[in-house]
Amino acid sequence: MVPKLILTVILLISVTVTTADYLRPQPRETLHFQWSPKPASYPQQVHISLAGDEYMRVTWVTDDQSSPSIVEYGTSPGRYSSVAQGESTSYSYLFYSSGKIHHSVIGPLEHSTVYFYRCGGQGPEFQLKTPPAQFPVTFAVAADLGQTGWTKSTLDHIDQCKYDVHLLPGDLSYADYMQHRWDTFGELVQPLASSRPWMVTEGNHEQETIPLLKDGFESFNARWKMPFEESGSSSNLYYSFEVAGIHVIMLGSYTDYDEQSDQYRWLKVDLSKVDRKKTPWLLVLFHVPWYNSNKAHQGEGDGMMAAMESLLYAASVDIVLAGHVHAYERSKRVNNGRSDPCGAVHITIGDGGNREGLAHGYVLILTNLHYKEPQPEWSIFREASFGHGELKIVNSTHAFWSWHRNDDDEPVRSDQVWITSLVNSGCVAEKRHELRNVLMAP
Ligand SMILES: *[C@@H]1O[C@H](CO)[C@@H](O)[C@H](O)[C@H]1NC(C)=O
Ligand SMILES: [Fe+2]
Repeated sequence: MVPKLILTVILLISVTVTTADYLRPQPRETLHFQWSPKPASYPQQVHISLAGDEYMRVTWVTDDQSSPSIVEYGTSPGRYSSVAQGESTSYSYLFYSSGKIHHSVIGPLEHSTVYFYRCGGQGPEFQLKTPPAQFPVTFAVAADLGQTGWTKSTLDHIDQCKYDVHLLPGDLSYADYMQHRWDTFGELVQPLASSRPWMVTEGNHEQETIPLLKDGFESFNARWKMPFEESGSSSNLYYSFEVAGIHVIMLGSYTDYDEQSDQYRWLKVDLSKVDRKKTPWLLVLFHVPWYNSNKAHQGEGDGMMAAMESLLYAASVDIVLAGHVHAYERSKRVNNGRSDPCGAVHITIGDGGNREGLAHGYVLILTNLHYKEPQPEWSIFREASFGHGELKIVNSTHAFWSWHRNDDDEPVRSDQVWITSLVNSGCVAEKRHELRNVLMAP
Protein backbone atom coordinates (compact mmCIF):
# COMPACT_ATOMS: atom_id res chain seq x y z
CA MET A 1 0.00 0.00 0.00
CA VAL A 2 2.65 2.45 1.05
CA PRO A 3 4.94 1.87 -1.96
CA LYS A 4 1.91 2.39 -4.20
CA LEU A 5 1.14 5.71 -2.56
CA ILE A 6 4.74 6.84 -2.83
CA LEU A 7 4.76 5.81 -6.45
CA THR A 8 1.59 7.78 -7.14
CA VAL A 9 3.04 10.87 -5.51
CA ILE A 10 6.25 10.51 -7.45
CA LEU A 11 4.25 9.99 -10.62
CA LEU A 12 2.28 13.17 -9.99
CA ILE A 13 5.39 15.19 -9.19
CA SER A 14 7.25 13.93 -12.18
CA VAL A 15 4.36 14.49 -14.55
CA THR A 16 4.07 18.08 -13.39
CA VAL A 17 7.78 18.79 -13.72
CA THR A 18 8.09 17.22 -17.14
CA THR A 19 8.66 19.90 -19.70
CA ALA A 20 9.37 17.78 -22.76
CA ASP A 21 6.28 16.81 -24.71
CA TYR A 22 7.48 13.25 -24.68
CA LEU A 23 6.68 11.14 -21.60
CA ARG A 24 9.12 8.33 -21.19
CA PRO A 25 7.80 4.79 -20.93
CA GLN A 26 8.06 2.36 -18.02
CA PRO A 27 10.44 -0.56 -18.25
CA ARG A 28 8.86 -3.69 -19.67
CA GLU A 29 8.94 -7.11 -18.07
CA THR A 30 11.71 -9.63 -18.61
CA LEU A 31 10.74 -12.19 -21.22
CA HIS A 32 10.10 -15.76 -20.15
CA PHE A 33 11.00 -18.55 -22.47
CA GLN A 34 9.16 -21.83 -22.84
CA TRP A 35 11.34 -24.87 -22.69
CA SER A 36 10.69 -26.86 -25.83
CA PRO A 37 12.38 -30.24 -26.07
CA LYS A 38 14.51 -30.71 -29.17
CA PRO A 39 16.93 -33.43 -30.24
CA ALA A 40 20.32 -32.94 -28.57
CA SER A 41 22.00 -32.42 -31.94
CA TYR A 42 19.50 -29.72 -33.02
CA PRO A 43 21.29 -26.44 -33.91
CA GLN A 44 20.31 -23.57 -31.60
CA GLN A 45 21.21 -19.90 -31.22
CA VAL A 46 22.43 -19.53 -34.79
CA HIS A 47 24.18 -16.25 -35.56
CA ILE A 48 26.61 -15.01 -38.19
CA SER A 49 29.43 -12.46 -38.28
CA LEU A 50 31.81 -11.13 -40.92
CA ALA A 51 35.13 -12.98 -40.96
CA GLY A 52 37.24 -11.13 -43.49
CA ASP A 53 36.26 -10.01 -46.97
CA GLU A 54 33.95 -12.57 -48.60
CA TYR A 55 33.83 -14.82 -45.51
CA MET A 56 31.19 -15.30 -42.87
CA ARG A 57 31.47 -17.08 -39.53
CA VAL A 58 28.45 -19.17 -38.59
CA THR A 59 28.03 -19.86 -34.87
CA TRP A 60 25.55 -22.21 -33.23
CA VAL A 61 25.14 -24.38 -30.15
CA THR A 62 24.15 -28.03 -29.75
CA ASP A 63 23.47 -29.93 -26.54
CA ASP A 64 25.14 -32.93 -28.13
CA GLN A 65 28.92 -32.71 -27.69
CA SER A 66 29.54 -35.08 -30.62
CA SER A 67 27.59 -33.05 -33.18
CA PRO A 68 29.80 -32.07 -36.17
CA SER A 69 30.87 -28.41 -36.75
CA ILE A 70 29.92 -28.38 -40.40
CA VAL A 71 27.94 -25.83 -42.38
CA GLU A 72 26.46 -26.81 -45.73
CA TYR A 73 25.56 -23.88 -47.95
CA GLY A 74 24.64 -22.74 -51.43
CA THR A 75 22.65 -20.16 -53.35
CA SER A 76 19.52 -22.28 -53.88
CA PRO A 77 17.27 -23.55 -51.11
CA GLY A 78 17.90 -27.17 -50.17
CA ARG A 79 20.85 -27.52 -52.52
CA TYR A 80 24.16 -27.13 -50.79
CA SER A 81 27.10 -26.92 -53.18
CA SER A 82 29.71 -26.31 -50.45
CA VAL A 83 30.58 -27.57 -46.99
CA ALA A 84 32.78 -25.86 -44.40
CA GLN A 85 34.35 -27.66 -41.48
CA GLY A 86 34.76 -25.49 -38.40
CA GLU A 87 35.90 -25.67 -34.80
CA SER A 88 34.11 -25.84 -31.50
CA THR A 89 34.49 -24.85 -27.90
CA SER A 90 32.60 -25.08 -24.64
CA TYR A 91 32.99 -23.72 -21.13
CA SER A 92 31.89 -24.31 -17.58
CA TYR A 93 30.84 -21.61 -15.19
CA LEU A 94 30.24 -22.65 -11.59
CA PHE A 95 27.47 -25.28 -11.87
CA TYR A 96 26.70 -24.51 -15.50
CA SER A 97 28.17 -26.35 -18.48
CA SER A 98 27.60 -24.87 -21.91
CA GLY A 99 26.55 -26.86 -24.93
CA LYS A 100 28.97 -27.39 -27.78
CA ILE A 101 29.57 -23.98 -29.36
CA HIS A 102 30.40 -24.35 -33.05
CA HIS A 103 32.17 -21.75 -35.23
CA SER A 104 32.50 -22.44 -38.96
CA VAL A 105 33.75 -19.95 -41.51
CA ILE A 106 32.08 -20.19 -44.91
CA GLY A 107 33.30 -18.64 -48.15
CA PRO A 108 34.52 -17.16 -50.37
CA LEU A 109 31.03 -15.74 -50.86
CA GLU A 110 29.67 -13.41 -53.51
CA HIS A 111 28.65 -9.94 -52.36
CA SER A 112 24.96 -8.92 -52.08
CA THR A 113 23.93 -12.53 -52.41
CA VAL A 114 21.45 -14.68 -50.52
CA TYR A 115 22.85 -18.00 -49.27
CA PHE A 116 20.90 -20.89 -47.80
CA TYR A 117 22.61 -22.90 -45.12
CA ARG A 118 22.21 -25.67 -42.60
CA CYS A 119 24.24 -26.28 -39.44
CA GLY A 120 25.60 -29.58 -38.18
CA GLY A 121 24.07 -31.60 -41.02
CA GLN A 122 20.51 -31.29 -39.76
CA GLY A 123 17.74 -29.05 -38.53
CA PRO A 124 16.13 -26.12 -40.29
CA GLU A 125 17.51 -24.22 -43.25
CA PHE A 126 18.59 -20.63 -42.62
CA GLN A 127 19.29 -17.88 -45.08
CA LEU A 128 21.67 -14.96 -44.97
CA LYS A 129 22.49 -12.04 -47.22
CA THR A 130 26.08 -10.94 -47.70
CA PRO A 131 26.89 -7.19 -47.65
CA PRO A 132 27.44 -5.31 -50.91
CA ALA A 133 30.88 -4.68 -52.41
CA GLN A 134 30.03 -1.03 -52.98
CA PHE A 135 28.01 1.81 -51.47
CA PRO A 136 25.32 2.14 -50.35
CA VAL A 137 25.66 0.09 -47.16
CA THR A 138 23.19 0.29 -44.29
CA PHE A 139 23.96 -0.55 -40.67
CA ALA A 140 21.34 -1.18 -38.00
CA VAL A 141 22.67 -0.02 -34.61
CA ALA A 142 21.36 -1.01 -31.18
CA ALA A 143 23.17 -1.52 -27.88
CA ASP A 144 22.25 -2.58 -24.34
CA LEU A 145 19.69 -5.03 -25.64
CA GLY A 146 18.93 -7.44 -22.84
CA GLN A 147 15.86 -9.64 -23.17
CA THR A 148 12.72 -7.79 -22.16
CA GLY A 149 9.51 -6.75 -23.87
CA TRP A 150 11.38 -3.64 -25.02
CA THR A 151 14.14 -5.76 -26.54
CA LYS A 152 11.48 -7.57 -28.50
CA SER A 153 10.03 -4.32 -29.80
CA THR A 154 13.52 -3.05 -30.75
CA LEU A 155 14.22 -6.27 -32.64
CA ASP A 156 10.81 -6.15 -34.34
CA HIS A 157 11.55 -2.63 -35.52
CA ILE A 158 14.99 -3.57 -36.81
CA ASP A 159 13.41 -6.50 -38.62
CA GLN A 160 11.26 -4.04 -40.56
CA CYS A 161 14.16 -2.05 -41.93
CA LYS A 162 16.44 -2.94 -44.79
CA TYR A 163 20.00 -3.24 -43.60
CA ASP A 164 23.19 -5.14 -44.33
CA VAL A 165 25.02 -5.42 -41.01
CA HIS A 166 23.99 -5.06 -37.36
CA LEU A 167 26.38 -3.12 -35.10
CA LEU A 168 26.15 -3.66 -31.34
CA PRO A 169 28.42 -1.55 -29.12
CA GLY A 170 28.11 -3.67 -25.99
CA ASP A 171 25.77 -5.17 -23.40
CA LEU A 172 24.12 -8.08 -25.15
CA SER A 173 22.25 -10.55 -22.98
CA TYR A 174 22.25 -9.09 -19.46
CA ALA A 175 22.80 -12.68 -18.37
CA ASP A 176 24.76 -11.30 -15.42
CA TYR A 177 26.31 -14.59 -14.28
CA MET A 178 23.18 -16.65 -15.00
CA GLN A 179 24.62 -18.55 -17.91
CA HIS A 180 21.39 -20.02 -19.23
CA ARG A 181 20.34 -16.44 -19.98
CA TRP A 182 23.07 -16.37 -22.62
CA ASP A 183 21.25 -19.32 -24.22
CA THR A 184 17.84 -17.63 -24.13
CA PHE A 185 19.37 -14.46 -25.57
CA GLY A 186 20.87 -16.52 -28.39
CA GLU A 187 17.45 -17.94 -29.17
CA LEU A 188 15.79 -14.51 -28.97
CA VAL A 189 18.11 -12.90 -31.51
CA GLN A 190 18.46 -15.91 -33.82
CA PRO A 191 15.83 -14.80 -36.38
CA LEU A 192 17.78 -11.60 -37.04
CA ALA A 193 21.31 -12.67 -36.21
CA SER A 194 21.17 -15.75 -38.46
CA SER A 195 20.27 -13.65 -41.49
CA ARG A 196 22.54 -10.57 -41.19
CA PRO A 197 26.00 -10.38 -39.64
CA TRP A 198 26.01 -9.15 -36.05
CA MET A 199 29.21 -7.31 -35.18
CA VAL A 200 29.48 -6.80 -31.44
CA THR A 201 31.90 -5.46 -28.88
CA GLU A 202 31.84 -5.95 -25.14
CA GLY A 203 30.07 -3.98 -22.43
CA ASN A 204 30.18 -4.27 -18.65
CA HIS A 205 27.46 -6.93 -18.68
CA GLU A 206 29.72 -9.23 -20.69
CA GLN A 207 32.39 -9.20 -17.98
CA GLU A 208 31.03 -11.70 -15.44
CA THR A 209 34.26 -11.69 -13.47
CA ILE A 210 34.56 -13.68 -10.24
CA PRO A 211 37.67 -12.82 -8.22
CA LEU A 212 40.19 -15.72 -8.17
CA LEU A 213 37.82 -17.89 -10.25
CA LYS A 214 36.89 -16.20 -13.50
CA ASP A 215 38.93 -13.64 -15.45
CA GLY A 216 35.98 -12.28 -17.34
CA PHE A 217 34.40 -12.38 -20.78
CA GLU A 218 34.55 -16.19 -20.85
CA SER A 219 31.00 -16.66 -22.05
CA PHE A 220 31.10 -13.67 -24.40
CA ASN A 221 34.33 -14.81 -26.03
CA ALA A 222 33.15 -18.39 -26.41
CA ARG A 223 29.76 -17.49 -27.90
CA TRP A 224 30.35 -14.24 -29.77
CA LYS A 225 33.63 -14.85 -31.54
CA MET A 226 34.46 -11.85 -33.73
CA PRO A 227 37.10 -11.56 -36.52
CA PHE A 228 39.95 -10.48 -34.22
CA GLU A 229 42.45 -12.94 -35.66
CA GLU A 230 41.48 -11.85 -39.17
CA SER A 231 42.26 -8.24 -38.18
CA GLY A 232 45.60 -8.90 -36.49
CA SER A 233 44.30 -8.52 -32.93
CA SER A 234 45.20 -10.92 -30.15
CA SER A 235 41.90 -10.41 -28.32
CA ASN A 236 38.23 -10.87 -29.11
CA LEU A 237 37.67 -7.65 -27.13
CA TYR A 238 38.92 -5.39 -29.97
CA TYR A 239 39.15 -5.89 -33.73
CA SER A 240 38.27 -4.29 -37.04
CA PHE A 241 36.55 -5.19 -40.29
CA GLU A 242 35.65 -3.61 -43.60
CA VAL A 243 32.43 -3.43 -45.54
CA ALA A 244 32.54 -1.84 -48.99
CA GLY A 245 34.24 1.57 -48.46
CA ILE A 246 33.96 1.58 -44.68
CA HIS A 247 36.59 0.65 -42.10
CA VAL A 248 34.98 -0.20 -38.75
CA ILE A 249 37.01 -0.42 -35.53
CA MET A 250 35.49 -2.13 -32.50
CA LEU A 251 37.27 -1.13 -29.28
CA GLY A 252 37.02 -2.46 -25.75
CA SER A 253 36.00 -0.17 -22.89
CA TYR A 254 36.77 -2.92 -20.38
CA THR A 255 40.27 -3.91 -21.35
CA ASP A 256 43.49 -1.89 -21.06
CA TYR A 257 43.61 1.17 -23.31
CA ASP A 258 46.60 3.21 -22.15
CA GLU A 259 49.47 3.91 -24.52
CA GLN A 260 51.43 0.85 -23.38
CA SER A 261 48.48 -1.50 -23.73
CA ASP A 262 48.09 -4.20 -26.36
CA GLN A 263 44.86 -2.59 -27.46
CA TYR A 264 46.48 0.80 -28.08
CA ARG A 265 49.37 -0.77 -29.98
CA TRP A 266 47.00 -2.82 -32.09
CA LEU A 267 44.90 0.28 -32.79
CA LYS A 268 47.94 2.14 -34.13
CA VAL A 269 48.82 -0.76 -36.41
CA ASP A 270 45.23 -1.05 -37.59
CA LEU A 271 44.97 2.70 -38.31
CA SER A 272 48.23 2.61 -40.26
CA LYS A 273 46.62 0.07 -42.61
CA VAL A 274 43.57 2.22 -43.33
CA ASP A 275 43.60 3.59 -46.86
CA ARG A 276 41.03 6.39 -47.07
CA LYS A 277 41.01 6.15 -50.84
CA LYS A 278 39.75 2.59 -50.52
CA THR A 279 37.69 3.12 -47.36
CA PRO A 280 36.75 6.81 -47.18
CA TRP A 281 34.64 6.20 -44.06
CA LEU A 282 36.15 5.42 -40.67
CA LEU A 283 33.81 4.34 -37.84
CA VAL A 284 34.66 3.43 -34.25
CA LEU A 285 32.47 1.66 -31.70
CA PHE A 286 32.91 1.03 -27.99
CA HIS A 287 30.62 0.70 -25.01
CA VAL A 288 31.15 3.64 -22.64
CA PRO A 289 30.46 7.02 -24.31
CA TRP A 290 32.99 9.84 -24.16
CA TYR A 291 30.45 12.56 -24.93
CA ASN A 292 27.54 12.05 -22.58
CA SER A 293 25.44 14.76 -20.95
CA ASN A 294 23.23 12.27 -19.13
CA LYS A 295 23.83 12.11 -15.38
CA ALA A 296 23.92 8.32 -15.69
CA HIS A 297 27.47 7.01 -16.06
CA GLN A 298 28.75 10.57 -16.10
CA GLY A 299 32.52 10.70 -16.59
CA GLU A 300 32.96 6.93 -16.87
CA GLY A 301 34.46 7.23 -20.34
CA ASP A 302 36.97 9.93 -19.34
CA GLY A 303 39.96 7.63 -18.82
CA MET A 304 39.66 5.96 -22.20
CA MET A 305 38.96 9.30 -23.84
CA ALA A 306 42.11 10.81 -22.33
CA ALA A 307 44.16 7.89 -23.61
CA MET A 308 42.73 7.53 -27.08
CA GLU A 309 40.89 10.58 -28.35
CA SER A 310 43.94 12.33 -29.81
CA LEU A 311 44.82 9.20 -31.77
CA LEU A 312 41.30 8.91 -33.18
CA TYR A 313 41.33 12.64 -33.94
CA ALA A 314 44.63 12.39 -35.81
CA ALA A 315 43.13 9.51 -37.79
CA SER A 316 40.05 11.62 -38.69
CA VAL A 317 37.44 9.19 -37.41
CA ASP A 318 34.05 10.12 -38.86
CA ILE A 319 31.57 8.64 -36.42
CA VAL A 320 31.81 7.09 -32.93
CA LEU A 321 28.94 4.89 -31.73
CA ALA A 322 28.62 3.97 -28.04
CA GLY A 323 26.05 2.45 -25.68
CA HIS A 324 25.95 2.00 -21.87
CA VAL A 325 23.78 5.04 -21.11
CA HIS A 326 20.20 3.91 -21.63
CA ALA A 327 19.23 6.85 -23.73
CA TYR A 328 19.96 8.47 -27.07
CA GLU A 329 22.29 11.41 -27.66
CA ARG A 330 23.94 12.84 -30.78
CA SER A 331 26.79 15.35 -30.81
CA LYS A 332 28.22 17.79 -33.30
CA ARG A 333 31.67 16.94 -34.64
CA VAL A 334 33.77 17.20 -31.49
CA ASN A 335 37.26 16.87 -30.09
CA ASN A 336 38.75 17.58 -26.68
CA GLY A 337 35.36 18.44 -25.18
CA ARG A 338 34.43 21.07 -27.78
CA SER A 339 32.91 21.17 -31.21
CA ASP A 340 35.55 20.82 -33.89
CA PRO A 341 34.94 20.43 -37.64
CA CYS A 342 37.64 17.74 -37.90
CA GLY A 343 36.41 15.71 -34.91
CA ALA A 344 34.02 12.75 -34.91
CA VAL A 345 30.25 12.78 -34.52
CA HIS A 346 29.53 10.90 -31.27
CA ILE A 347 26.29 8.99 -30.92
CA THR A 348 25.13 7.20 -27.77
CA ILE A 349 22.58 4.54 -28.56
CA GLY A 350 22.30 2.47 -25.38
CA ASP A 351 18.53 2.32 -25.58
CA GLY A 352 17.99 -1.19 -26.90
CA GLY A 353 15.64 -2.28 -24.14
CA ASN A 354 17.34 -4.03 -21.22
CA ARG A 355 15.76 -4.84 -17.88
CA GLU A 356 17.38 -1.96 -16.01
CA GLY A 357 15.02 0.46 -17.71
CA LEU A 358 15.96 3.86 -18.97
CA ALA A 359 17.46 5.30 -15.83
CA HIS A 360 17.59 4.74 -12.09
CA GLY A 361 14.62 5.61 -9.86
CA TYR A 362 11.04 6.42 -10.77
CA VAL A 363 11.44 10.15 -11.07
CA LEU A 364 14.29 9.65 -13.44
CA ILE A 365 12.35 7.15 -15.49
CA LEU A 366 9.50 9.55 -16.09
CA THR A 367 11.25 12.82 -16.73
CA ASN A 368 14.24 14.27 -18.42
CA LEU A 369 15.60 15.46 -15.06
CA HIS A 370 18.59 13.24 -15.38
CA TYR A 371 20.27 15.39 -18.02
CA LYS A 372 22.93 17.92 -17.19
CA GLU A 373 21.67 21.45 -17.70
CA PRO A 374 22.27 23.49 -19.66
CA GLN A 375 22.70 21.15 -22.61
CA PRO A 376 26.42 21.30 -23.57
CA GLU A 377 27.13 23.22 -26.78
CA TRP A 378 28.32 20.01 -28.47
CA SER A 379 25.10 18.10 -27.73
CA ILE A 380 22.51 18.39 -30.48
CA PHE A 381 19.80 15.89 -29.57
CA ARG A 382 19.19 13.85 -26.42
CA GLU A 383 16.25 11.82 -25.25
CA ALA A 384 15.73 8.81 -23.01
CA SER A 385 13.53 6.53 -25.11
CA PHE A 386 14.01 3.01 -26.34
CA GLY A 387 14.90 2.73 -30.01
CA HIS A 388 17.51 1.86 -32.61
CA GLY A 389 19.60 3.70 -35.17
CA GLU A 390 20.14 3.27 -38.88
CA LEU A 391 23.27 4.47 -40.62
CA LYS A 392 23.11 4.47 -44.37
CA ILE A 393 26.45 5.19 -45.99
CA VAL A 394 25.19 6.47 -49.32
CA ASN A 395 28.49 7.09 -51.12
CA SER A 396 32.07 8.13 -50.39
CA THR A 397 30.98 11.55 -49.10
CA HIS A 398 27.44 11.29 -47.70
CA ALA A 399 25.84 9.24 -44.95
CA PHE A 400 22.33 9.47 -43.52
CA TRP A 401 21.78 8.74 -39.84
CA SER A 402 18.33 8.26 -38.30
CA TRP A 403 17.03 7.27 -34.88
CA HIS A 404 13.77 5.37 -34.50
CA ARG A 405 11.80 5.15 -31.25
CA ASN A 406 10.07 1.91 -30.41
CA ASP A 407 6.93 3.85 -29.52
CA ASP A 408 6.53 5.09 -33.07
CA ASP A 409 6.06 3.11 -36.25
CA GLU A 410 9.38 1.98 -37.63
CA PRO A 411 9.50 4.39 -40.60
CA VAL A 412 9.16 7.41 -38.25
CA ARG A 413 12.51 9.14 -37.76
CA SER A 414 12.71 10.94 -34.42
CA ASP A 415 16.14 12.30 -35.23
CA GLN A 416 17.91 12.43 -38.56
CA VAL A 417 20.97 14.06 -40.05
CA TRP A 418 23.16 13.97 -43.11
CA ILE A 419 26.81 13.44 -42.21
CA THR A 420 29.53 14.26 -44.71
CA SER A 421 32.84 12.43 -44.53
CA LEU A 422 36.06 14.04 -43.30
CA VAL A 423 37.76 12.87 -46.48
CA ASN A 424 35.45 15.23 -48.33
CA SER A 425 36.07 18.10 -45.89
CA GLY A 426 39.84 18.17 -46.32
CA CYS A 427 40.54 17.18 -42.68
CA VAL A 428 42.13 13.88 -43.69
CA ALA A 429 44.50 15.59 -46.11
CA GLU A 430 45.34 18.33 -43.58
CA LYS A 431 46.25 15.86 -40.85
CA ARG A 432 48.21 13.40 -42.95
CA HIS A 433 51.57 14.38 -41.41
CA GLU A 434 50.20 14.57 -37.88
CA LEU A 435 48.77 11.09 -38.25
CA ARG A 436 52.04 9.71 -39.56
CA ASN A 437 53.91 11.18 -36.60
CA VAL A 438 51.43 9.75 -34.10
CA LEU A 439 51.54 6.33 -35.69
CA MET A 440 55.34 6.30 -35.91
CA ALA A 441 55.79 7.31 -32.25
CA PRO A 442 57.16 4.37 -30.20
C1 LIG B 1 26.50 11.34 -52.68
O1 LIG B 1 25.16 11.35 -52.23
C2 LIG B 1 24.65 12.67 -52.01
C3 LIG B 1 23.29 12.50 -51.35
O2 LIG B 1 22.46 11.68 -52.11
C4 LIG B 1 24.62 13.42 -53.32
O3 LIG B 1 24.13 14.72 -53.08
C5 LIG B 1 26.03 13.48 -53.87
O4 LIG B 1 26.02 14.11 -55.14
C6 LIG B 1 26.61 12.09 -54.00
N1 LIG B 1 28.00 12.19 -54.37
C7 LIG B 1 28.56 11.44 -55.28
C8 LIG B 1 30.02 11.63 -55.51
O5 LIG B 1 27.93 10.63 -55.92
FE1 LIG C 1 26.66 -0.94 -19.95
